[in-house]
Amino acid sequence: MLYQGENLKVALESDGIAVLTFDAPGSVNKFDRQTLSELDAALDAISASQGVKALVLASGKDTFIVGADITEFLETFKLPEPELLAWVQKANAIFSKLEDLPFPTVSAVNGFALGGGCECILATDIRVADATAKIGLPEVKLGLIPGFGGTVRLPRVIGADNAMELITTGKDNRADAALKVGLVDAVVAPEKLFEAALTMASSAIAGKLDWQARRADKQSALKLDKLEAGMSFATATAMVAAQAGKHYPAPMTAVKGIEAAARMGRDEALAIEHQGFIKLAKTDVATALIGIFLNDQLIKGKAKKAGKAAHAIDKAAVLGAGIMGGGIAYQSASTGTPIIMKDINDKALHLGLSEASKLLNKQLERGKINGAKMAGVLNNIVPSLSYDSVKDVNIVVEAVVENPKVKASVLAEVEGVVGQDAIITSNTSTISINQLAQSLKKPERFCGMHFFNPVHRMPLVEVIRGEHTSDETVATVVAYAAKMGKSPIVVNDCPGFFVNRVLFPYFQGFSLLVRDGADFQAVDKVMEKQFGWPMGPAYLLDVVGIDTGHHAQAVMAEGFPTRMSKTDKDAIDVMFENQRFGQKNGKGFYVYTEDKRGKPKKEATAESYELLKAVVKAQGEFSPDEIINRTMLPMIIETVRCLEEGIINSPAEADMGLVYGLGFPPFRGGVFRYIDTVGLDKIVAIADQYAHLGELYQVTDTMREMAASGKTYYGQ
Ligand SMILES: NC(=O)c1ccc[n+]([C@@H]2O[C@H](COP(=O)([O-])OP(=O)(O)OC[C@H]3O[C@@H](n4cnc5c(N)ncnc54)[C@H](O)[C@@H]3O)[C@@H](O)[C@H]2O)c1
Repeated sequence: MLYQGENLKVALESDGIAVLTFDAPGSVNKFDRQTLSELDAALDAISASQGVKALVLASGKDTFIVGADITEFLETFKLPEPELLAWVQKANAIFSKLEDLPFPTVSAVNGFALGGGCECILATDIRVADATAKIGLPEVKLGLIPGFGGTVRLPRVIGADNAMELITTGKDNRADAALKVGLVDAVVAPEKLFEAALTMASSAIAGKLDWQARRADKQSALKLDKLEAGMSFATATAMVAAQAGKHYPAPMTAVKGIEAAARMGRDEALAIEHQGFIKLAKTDVATALIGIFLNDQLIKGKAKKAGKAAHAIDKAAVLGAGIMGGGIAYQSASTGTPIIMKDINDKALHLGLSEASKLLNKQLERGKINGAKMAGVLNNIVPSLSYDSVKDVNIVVEAVVENPKVKASVLAEVEGVVGQDAIITSNTSTISINQLAQSLKKPERFCGMHFFNPVHRMPLVEVIRGEHTSDETVATVVAYAAKMGKSPIVVNDCPGFFVNRVLFPYFQGFSLLVRDGADFQAVDKVMEKQFGWPMGPAYLLDVVGIDTGHHAQAVMAEGFPTRMSKTDKDAIDVMFENQRFGQKNGKGFYVYTEDKRGKPKKEATAESYELLKAVVKAQGEFSPDEIINRTMLPMIIETVRCLEEGIINSPAEADMGLVYGLGFPPFRGGVFRYIDTVGLDKIVAIADQYAHLGELYQVTDTMREMAASGKTYYGQ
């Protein structure tokens, strides 16, 4: 043994080939501080030993290296810039040391080689992968660029165009695609991988593979003439500007860095990468995106834990085959849980099934599934008009019309049919879970399971715990949601639960702006382009449905009369009274038509403005900041209230609820991350300026206390 660390070891094979095996104690290998320093020491041990003629890197696990240890990022990135630079330089010196070894180096890649894992194999001369390999540089997804030489070595190995595409999208390549672009030199069956790597190493030792030339390419300028370079970088710049947009600076930093370093040798080029990396590491965007990654891990961890306390779910039922019921049936069936879809209306069942087929057909066309999988999923959705078929299910999701009386009777009916251990849930968006529980004999087996529309696309499921709901019930519903590929967050019962409770104050902020003279289109534009929402409030109301919004608003007003009830008619009332229900009937704030290609098109017409005159009380001009403050403050303060009242468990879960349930701009990380970024003291000061607008703008005492003592929600 040449070296033995905790996470990796080096052994010398008889023919002079040293084998460095990454094999950390956990389930995967990653580049944490410990592994990096062990790699450094191992390389020194290899250099110092006589008789090494080649080095092979391999993994002792079923995946190579998943990347850097992201849990260390936020702490590390807080270092002052010179220290951060020293950290990056030190890490890079290790990869350059690997690249500079005086004999050929080969990587044997299985499973994931992402981020630092990919950069590590790029530092070797030859790369052989097995069919399970997935190789890529996903750093932009965290608001970063590769920091261990990825932007330098990758373009020199696979060409600038390919490299820029891989780095700016963050997508990983399967083995065959990696082979096609030259990211790996060979792909073999998993059981042949190690042997193939040894053979390659022997060939290189014997001089049959010109490893020196490959290495020299990586260490010199990019092979692009001036004209080619001009074209490549101009195209990439335009593409990234259009796709990533101004809120996500990392992809552009990557392109600009690769361009600036194009004529440089390795070490100079690395210095450019370091600068770009450090600049990004210090941005709020990187903090927010890394925060989302960590919060997502937390939710996954909780779901995994819930899985251990959960009942088995082998068969489910959904009551109601409407928009939501159909979506829930599709999602359950396509993730492996057969489901009975029950309705009282035959037509609805047909519609539900045809929606599922449409979704599956799209995937079939894209080659994501085959015919057998499609048939399997469709067979897993069993339409029914009778309760008989529901008898033996483990879980029921009620998704009938949003009417408390109908729901109460449907819930009581189904409880009489299912077995003693079956769990019953409701997908209601507004009705109190505690109220619905009153119609059940065993309320402990009941909770809310709130999906978002469209079900197949929206990642969030709110699991709403009622006062009688048992822990076992919550655990089982969380596990079922996770099995469906969703991110469940557990919340306590209150009007609107968590997501709608904080959404409606935002709509109210919007209505007040319209009242005071703001143009709804201008508000949408600021909230989309500047704040970063996928849709501004007027557009979102049209998509949700003005009738649905109007109804939910009334429920919220009843639940929180002092903050959310209104004395005057507002913009939503105007649309509702004029039967402008939004996208569903072709007109709301906007008018919806189809363009020549049949794509939905939205347009603001004079009619909306004319109707809104009934509620406009002033002629105000609002700056983008005012628009953002007046719409966001009610959402922010209500979110804080939900935390203070224990409706949500943590800032992390709240932020994920907002990002996954509403599309809160990921680069802002969620409400709590946003507060921490702006500063709670500033938020309080701004809110105080708007306090005259009503209770929705008045901060809580705890917010004031926390602001005064400089506390943050994430404590970082
Ligand atoms: N649409 C959304 O955006 C959305 C989002 C989240 C939650 N929800 C909630 O999901 C539920 C369903 O909403 P939807 O938009 O799918 O409504 P929908 O009107 O599209 O579908 C309701 C279905 O329930 C059926 N139904 C009525 N009474 C029934 C009964 N006794 N037994 C079985 N089926 C019955 C109807 O025939 C209809 O097919 C509601 O509680 C709603 O609040 C809706």
